[in-house]
Amino acid sequence: MHHFSHSTINAWDSRYRGNFINSLSGFKSVSLIGTVNAARQPNLAVFSNIVHIGANPALVGFINRPLAAAPHTLTNIQATGCYTINHITPAMVAQAHQTSAKYDEGVSEFAQTGLTETYRDGCAAPFVAQSTVQYSMKLVEVVPITHNNTFFVIGAVQDVYLSHLDCVSDDGFIELTQLGSLASLGLDGYYSANPLARYAYAKPDAPAKTL
Ligand SMILES: Cc1cc2nc3c(=O)[nH]c(=O)nc-3n(C[C@H](O)[C@H](O)[C@H](O)COP(=O)(O)O)c2cc1C
Repeated sequence: MHHFSHSTINAWDSRYRGNFINSLSGFKSVSLIGTVNAARQPNLAVFSNIVHIGANPALVGFINRPLAAAPHTLTNIQATGCYTINHITPAMVAQAHQTSAKYDEGVSEFAQTGLTETYRDGCAAPFVAQSTVQYSMKLVEVVPITHNNTFFVIGAVQDVYLSHLDCVSDDGFIELTQLGSLASLGLDGYYSANPLARYAYAKPDAPAKTL
């Protein structure tokens, strides 16, 4: 095994360390978060630190960087209490990545990238029409992580929209590969996923069994 010590890692150039450490936690989900500001101007940005928190109640969280680095999404969510999360497919990956550019407040990433905003009853925030998986969220809690000035933003899942129904199994599992949802790695890598296996609920007294 090659060994990278804590002191070696700390001595690296910040960009190199950023790429290395961001890759270390593994493949991640990646989505576009749609919001509006208090004046109803839309904002869209790509986020990959998005995690399932619980299914009952249905909660999803994401990490927002320090406000100086990524101000608009979190400010808009705190102003309106709502947002949308939209999966990224291969056909829209370059546009999705472009939403990470530091556009000024009030500049719409939809207009800048050509992604299409769409609105639905009950949600002030825009959905991304090109996304095959879209869901709306209601803000529950913003947990400040004081150690590095980031925020854990927790939301409750409201309405879910899928472009196709046949990708939902009888047991509720959504086969996201059929919907073209991408995964991400590090700060700038995007991946298509291939299904490998699904397993039955693991029990201590029996070997793992594929479904
Ligand atoms: C692949 C990828 C993943 C990203 N994930 C996050 C993330 O999880 N949290 C975050 O705060 N910024 C993340 N960013 C950076 C934001 O997209 C970027 O800071 C954006 O400008 C934020 O926009 P806003 O100020 O409109 O919220 C990511 C960027 C890329 C390219």
